[in-house]
Amino acid sequence: MTGIGLLYQLTKQKEGKMKYGYFDDANREYVITNPKTPVKWINYVGTLQFGGFLDHTGGSQLCKGDPALNRITKYIPQLPCSDFKGETAYVRVREKGQTCKDAAIFSPYFVPSLVPYDSFECHVGMYYTRWVTRYGDLEFDILAFIPRGGTTLIRRYSVTNKGKKDLHVELFPVVEYSHFDALKQLTNADWVPQTMQCHAVETRGNTGAIAEYAFMKKETEVNVFCTNIKPASYETDRKRFLGDNEYGTWREPLSLRSEKLSCKDAMRGDTISAFQLDLGTLEAGKTATVITQLTQVQGLAKAASAAEKYTTVAEVDKAFADLKKFWDEYLSVIAVHTPDAAFNSMLNLHNPRQCYTTKTWSRYLSLYQLGYGSDRGIGFRDSSQDVMGVIPQIPDEALELIEKLLSVQSCDGSSYHQFNPLSMIAGRGDSMEYEDRPHFYSDDQLWIVLAVCAYLKETGDYAFLEKQIPFYEKDKAEKPLETGTVYEHLMRAVDFTHSHVGSHKLPLLGFADWNDTVNLPEGAESLFTANLYGWALRELVELAVFRSQKDLAEKYQKWYEEMKNSVLSSAWDGEWFVRYFDDKGKPVGSKSNEYGKVWLNAQSWAVLSGFAADDSKGRTAMDSVKKYLATEKGIKLSWPGYNGYDREKGGVTTYPPGAKENGGIFLHPNPWAIIAETVLGDGDQAFLYYQRINPAAKNENIDEYECEPYCYAQNILSNEHPQFGLGRNSWLSGTSSWTYQASTKYILGIRPEHEGLRIDPCIPKAWDSFTVERKCRGAVYKIHVQNSAHKSKGVTSVCADGKPLAGNIVPYFASGTHTIEVVM
Ligand code: GLC
Repeated sequence: MTGIGLLYQLTKQKEGKMKYGYFDDANREYVITNPKTPVKWINYVGTLQFGGFLDHTGGSQLCKGDPALNRITKYIPQLPCSDFKGETAYVRVREKGQTCKDAAIFSPYFVPSLVPYDSFECHVGMYYTRWVTRYGDLEFDILAFIPRGGTTLIRRYSVTNKGKKDLHVELFPVVEYSHFDALKQLTNADWVPQTMQCHAVETRGNTGAIAEYAFMKKETEVNVFCTNIKPASYETDRKRFLGDNEYGTWREPLSLRSEKLSCKDAMRGDTISAFQLDLGTLEAGKTATVITQLTQVQGLAKAASAAEKYTTVAEVDKAFADLKKFWDEYLSVIAVHTPDAAFNSMLNLHNPRQCYTTKTWSRYLSLYQLGYGSDRGIGFRDSSQDVMGVIPQIPDEALELIEKLLSVQSCDGSSYHQFNPLSMIAGRGDSMEYEDRPHFYSDDQLWIVLAVCAYLKETGDYAFLEKQIPFYEKDKAEKPLETGTVYEHLMRAVDFTHSHVGSHKLPLLGFADWNDTVNLPEGAESLFTANLYGWALRELVELAVFRSQKDLAEKYQKWYEEMKNSVLSSAWDGEWFVRYFDDKGKPVGSKSNEYGKVWLNAQSWAVLSGFAADDSKGRTAMDSVKKYLATEKGIKLSWPGYNGYDREKGGVTTYPPGAKENGGIFLHPNPWAIIAETVLGDGDQAFLYYQRINPAAKNENIDEYECEPYCYAQNILSNEHPQFGLGRNSWLSGTSSWTYQASTKYILGIRPEHEGLRIDPCIPKAWDSFTVERKCRGAVYKIHVQNSAHKSKGVTSVCADGKPLAGNIVPYFASGTHTIEVVM
């Protein structure tokens, strides 16, 4: 730990505030100093092609491709935190003359041996985790990561003898495997263990490898655990490793009390891979280093050669430097410096990393989204929003995902709710479980309009609009029934909504809109979808105007005005907008309701669509948010929570009041309220809402919140629940993309438009100034915003490279670095 980090930690610990860790922005890490966090805190590594997450006590959940169908390690998040999960390592230490019976045995990760440590640091970095722990005289430095584009999880273990006595040190890294079919692992205790195979493989040179696979995968998918030194012995079977018919435990495996592991192979059972790596006698001050790898190869014949890569520290260092380079570039696209440290830390490091993560894993794999079953895959709505959080940094990868999304759009313009990104098989989701409900989600297809337009504005790649992409439906020969340009896809998306309206001329709800859990009987209408449609139409109008397509611009402007009229004339409840009309035309989200009177999204989105942005109703609606829904820990989705199951309303009433969609602080819509406040010009309110949900700002009160302070959770229990403040479902949430967009595009106000980079901040009045370095379309913009007038919003002058501009849009430069001076 650096001097400043240490000083900070000691001060905070003394104050009794900082219990589990601290932010180390200079090293782009969060450092966990107490492993007994309230729940596991994780970090992602690799990609969906090969990757998963590591927990802060060494456990790993790894998959190659589909987490449902090609799972590698067995990680059961529902087990207690102290339990073994997926991977760990043990160390056996002896002084001269000691036997293994009296050796010290512990895990350098703390779990699962739970032997007290002298110091513990888990450095949560940019797609790597590093542990620096101290047990007596031994210091461990363990680095785990997956090289960029790689298919191997590397762990580099360095052990240093910090004491004065010579110590004999052995390392026992262990992996426990899952059956490739993750759900079968949990549901079939006959077939699964009969198929599992695990055995040593002959390798070249001074290396070791164990291959593990299900019998039927022998020629195709073989997991390999390798080491860069010759193992003294190995184990493949959990029963033998734990010993005493598994009355030995992960905490104290009995096999570690013998000189050697069994060196037997496992032709069935609960497969593991463990090596005994003899690091020899470590003299005082000396360090020993070993490298392990967990990978998957295509067939047993390729297993041995897996051990030939990453055998040297230099090779590992190079791969790690490559990974760092990727993150240097990624994080350099938008770099901010404002007067608020927690805001800077989130925007420069943790929020962009989370956006990369949600873009990569959608809702596939976390401690909460378990990736079982092969049907869920990628959510159309979720990924269309997630992708907007990464377009500035990785436009090519974003484009690839956008194309996939467009290819599961239906010929009728609606879209399939979810799809498997590997098989590209799509489905209509939960709606299929209800015969009496519609099978479309009214919002899905509209999100892609926003995503494509964000992509165009960022990149200027207008040729993409002409690209031919098939619609989803296919004939018997699997040939698409229809193909259309991207532009055609977008037009069909709004056409679908245009032609599916109910009695108030508002969009039909379908099975659900953004709120998956309100599933009203057929005929209900959605104000959310009405507003999202408004935003999508505005995008299409702007695009048509930019491309001089007058007729198209007029057509969509007319549709926009019509919907605006429907919303303003039918949905105003006096103090706020209603959220739905049910099948009988009765409002849901009205003062006339006993429960669910006020809903956040109906208010914020009426501003986001622009329908109520210039109308006093927009301000009044957002004031009602402040009055009825805002708490000091975030804004609630609705109020009051339903108090009992009601089949007519659906899933929302399965939760107790204050939880999740039933009046909980659902975080994903919070940034929409932030954006709405910036549109209305209240930068102080926008920033207050931001701070209240900023996990970094919760670091000193984390026992209540429980989740990682370095990423957003999906929900926090609200003040209608006795555990007000408890966060859950961290990482894979639309909160990430939208808080990132809310803060970069709306609070700091740097927003790519078709014509140029708009600079339209809406900040706390107290801020004197801020700077943003923004890369866009090949040029670098060094933006300095001066706010000596202490305003929230309103740009007085903009100078680009010293030349004054007429408005607040900086025309795009083709290259070079440009200084943009802005005065508010
Ligand atoms: C979950 C779903 C998302 C939905 C939200 C609200 O986050 O993944 O699609 O919009 O819940 O119901």
